[in-house]
Amino acid sequence: MSEVDAKFQRPIIVVTGATSGVGYGICERLLSQLCSSTPPDINALQLDSTDTRTYTPLHNGLQFPCEALTLVLACIPLSDGEKTKERFLKSLDLRIQKMKRRKDYDGQAERFRENLCIEPIYCNLLDIKSIFRCTALIKQKFRYVSHLVLNAGINAVIGKDMLKFLKDYIQSPISAVTSPKYLIESYGEISPDGLGYVWQLNVFGHFVLYRALSQHMEVAPFPMSQVLWMSSLDAIAKEYDSRDWQLIKTVKPYEASKYEVDLLSATLDRIPRLGDEKQDGGPNLARIRHFTVHPGVVATQIGFRIEKSWIDRLFKLILFYLARYLGSPYHTINPFYAAIVATYLILVLQIILDIVVLRHYLGMEVRSSSAVPNPSPIKYSARKPRIWREHVTPERIDEWDSHEEEGRLLLDRFEGLYDEFHIKEGIFEDK
Ligand SMILES: NC(=O)c1ccc[n+]([C@@H]2O[C@H](COP(=O)([O-])OP(=O)(O)OC[C@H]3O[C@@H](n4cnc5c(N)ncnc54)[C@H](OP(=O)(O)O)[C@@H]3O)[C@@H](O)[C@H]2O)c1
Repeated sequence: MSEVDAKFQRPIIVVTGATSGVGYGICERLLSQLCSSTPPDINALQLDSTDTRTYTPLHNGLQFPCEALTLVLACIPLSDGEKTKERFLKSLDLRIQKMKRRKDYDGQAERFRENLCIEPIYCNLLDIKSIFRCTALIKQKFRYVSHLVLNAGINAVIGKDMLKFLKDYIQSPISAVTSPKYLIESYGEISPDGLGYVWQLNVFGHFVLYRALSQHMEVAPFPMSQVLWMSSLDAIAKEYDSRDWQLIKTVKPYEASKYEVDLLSATLDRIPRLGDEKQDGGPNLARIRHFTVHPGVVATQIGFRIEKSWIDRLFKLILFYLARYLGSPYHTINPFYAAIVATYLILVLQIILDIVVLRHYLGMEVRSSSAVPNPSPIKYSARKPRIWREHVTPERIDEWDSHEEEGRLLLDRFEGLYDEFHIKEGIFEDK
């Protein structure tokens, strides 16, 4: 343990897909937040569009001012990770220069920068062996992991159904640029590991990463460790069929994969409440909490797969801004705005958040965490309305009541497959 580690409780945060898009935005925003003695994002919760209250800024076991951070960029290829690290440091240094010119600057940003460690590690979610290698390296280099941001993803869009496209735009132009129904996706693709391609990258690869690190997360020196699962507005129950849980036959593998993410994350988060002994490891272990988040609609590679020319891209971007202007709160567009959903959850005290959210949904007084009943789980959405600042709002998971059992079944299937790969790769140390 270094001197710095001994002095501070250093959050160690692993982010997948951090070299571009939303993942890049999350890391950049987190670094900018932790430069301040009191990160502004702890006030980012807005329960609905009329809500103007500020919620008490209580933190999540992290100490503020945060004096040290390790940020692990789990990425492909490693050279992109190295370049991204340099970009983060450069933009942080520029930010610090600006902050130093302010009269009220208190020196926090420089202290934080001094103890900041950014570490790229190779992790290909389409290669289970590489995920195990990545987790083995993380365990070797760091004593614990406090946060896991499971963000990387792909969609399988290959074209547009022009008839549906015209119908969508005529009937509801805003939903056509928010949750388009006219996109054609490729399906039936199998990964080199023999699993559903989109499913492995968006869901199972991340599950393996989490499972292989779970014991390392339990020893984090905080009351809880967090896993953030990146979902989408397109996580739709009707696209999911339990018989096709590796999403090979569905014509909408992206939507179905995001719905599985919702089910899995909510189910995993409920395990301690259901009394599962594997996770409820005793008073000295950090409790692992799972959160479902989504970034809204963002202008990144994933959303512009079929817009090859710059004119098509510009046109789509203009439509995004138009949608925001016409009232869509979901068009965060800029990854830095979209990132607020992750930075908020990393920074706030979760018990307080649970109670605030429960009061909102149930309209009831909840005085302590032990009084919390078992309501339908929620996911957190990033929003950026036309006038308001970007913020975070809780939403319900689609059709949870009729899919709660399915969540448990999925978890059993995932555990079984994880064990198979674990044995195949010859890794037994955390069994
Ligand atoms: N953009 C949106 O509007 C939107 C909306 C809802 C949800 N989301 C979700 O947000 C997350 C991030 O997407 P994004 O919008 O930021 O898209 P993006 O810019 O395409 O980012 C995807 C990231 O995943 C990484 N990745 C791809 N294949 C990988 C693999 N085999 N192993 C490891 N990493 C891999 C990519 O790395 P490379 O760059 O090296 O390929 C990239 O960093 C996804 O889960 C997506 O579903 C996005």
